[in-house]
Amino acid sequence: MAHGFGGWLLSFSILVLALSIPCSLSLRIKSGIKTRSAVFLSPEFELGPGSVENRNYYNIDFPRGHIAIKRFDAEVVDEAGRPIPLHETYLHHWVVMRYYVRKDVPNVEYDASLKNNQSNFVRVRNNGVCKNLGQYYGLGSETRKTPTYVPDPYGIEVGNPAQVPDGFEERWMLNVHAIDTRGAVDKLGCTECRCDLYNITKDEYGRPLTSDYRGGLLCCYDHTQCKVTEGFQSARRSLYLKYTVEWADWSDSILPVQIYIFDITDTWTGLDSDEHHCKVEYEVAEACKVTSVTGNECVDTRRNRVRIPTEGYVIYGVAHQHTGGIGAALYGEDGRVICSSIPIYGKGEEVGDEAGYIVGMTTCYPQAGSVKILDGETLVHESNYSSTQTHTGIMGLFYILVADKLPNPTLFMHS
Ligand SMILES: *[C@@H]1O[C@H](CO)[C@@H](O)[C@H](O)[C@H]1NC(C)=O
Ligand SMILES: *[C@@H]1O[C@H](CO)[C@@H](O)[C@H](O)[C@H]1NC(C)=O
Ligand SMILES: *[C@@H]1O[C@H](CO)[C@@H](O)[C@H](O)[C@H]1NC(C)=O
Repeated sequence: MAHGFGGWLLSFSILVLALSIPCSLSLRIKSGIKTRSAVFLSPEFELGPGSVENRNYYNIDFPRGHIAIKRFDAEVVDEAGRPIPLHETYLHHWVVMRYYVRKDVPNVEYDASLKNNQSNFVRVRNNGVCKNLGQYYGLGSETRKTPTYVPDPYGIEVGNPAQVPDGFEERWMLNVHAIDTRGAVDKLGCTECRCDLYNITKDEYGRPLTSDYRGGLLCCYDHTQCKVTEGFQSARRSLYLKYTVEWADWSDSILPVQIYIFDITDTWTGLDSDEHHCKVEYEVAEACKVTSVTGNECVDTRRNRVRIPTEGYVIYGVAHQHTGGIGAALYGEDGRVICSSIPIYGKGEEVGDEAGYIVGMTTCYPQAGSVKILDGETLVHESNYSSTQTHTGIMGLFYILVADKLPNPTLFMHS
């Protein structure tokens, strides 16, 4: 906890510093928006050595009303509120989704046929581009040291009553996927959801997996069990995702941002703007053969092309990678770097600094107006993993927040 918070504070002060060097405007803007924050706990989930929980929690505690979300941070804690290290409970991912639900129909979220009916339940997606990645926020093991702050005067607008359909209410869903690796015979293998370690040959719905599927989410679904050293004993325990939301009441002085998430496995070709196939996970199938020591030859580099529907200014960027990841970037059509995000690996045992795990990702907070994506511009998305060993179930996501307007300086000078 102390580490995670320290990391956040550090990045935050760098951010403030960076913003304050070229002009004082940013700092004035900074003081313009009053925020509040609150700490919530997810419903309880219980894990024992090797076990997996992957649950969706509907109608979670969340600030209500017409607001701008400014920050969303999370970590796994136990019943006493003690932060749990990743080498005990690996936080594979958490995801936060927004939806509208009909007020006069009870329990829509818990009844599949009611929930699949658009007259009762409407997912409110981010702005693109993968159909299966509709979340507003979502990180994994890196969550403790990854800043999520949206700089002033921007915010993620939610709860606008003019947008909630009549008879509906806006709510939030949280998905938490956690793996208890205490006593695991192969901690990395369990976190990478290797099918042999879970003894899984069929998916959650009983469909046989293909023989070339070696690992990934299909093998570590809810209540699966990873292999634990024989005789290893440790108590099952109750855990929670503790999440901190910072927000401001919506006002005209806040500028809305769009959320875009890119997936390195997306096979979009640029020919048909709707053809997105985002597999979410991929693998490093073969370890490289080291023949010389010329440095970067054991790198698995993937690239694909991505596009956003409108032009805009990038105000935040971050990638999501798993262990083995060594960096990701978005480049403009002319090759300029839009954002580069590099994993921070832990070095010890302590919470927030667990060796072998990605405990944070570097983020981008471009100077206002300095990074613009042009109308119709095709970007290149790049994700690098070390290929010194094989990996299954790895990911390459890139989140950016994009604003279509720059702040109007005079507006803030007078406030
Ligand atoms: C969907 O829900 C509406 C309103 O409750 C209902 O009138 C309609 O028949 C439902 N549609 C289906 C396909 O179940
Ligand atoms: C693996 O699963 C099979 C059935 O799916 C079962 O027969 C076998 O005992 C399991 N092996 C272990 C080590 O649990
Ligand atoms: C990814 O690796 C390639 C070399 O394989 C390198 O040119 C590129 O700069 C790397 N990108 C990032 C974001 O680290």
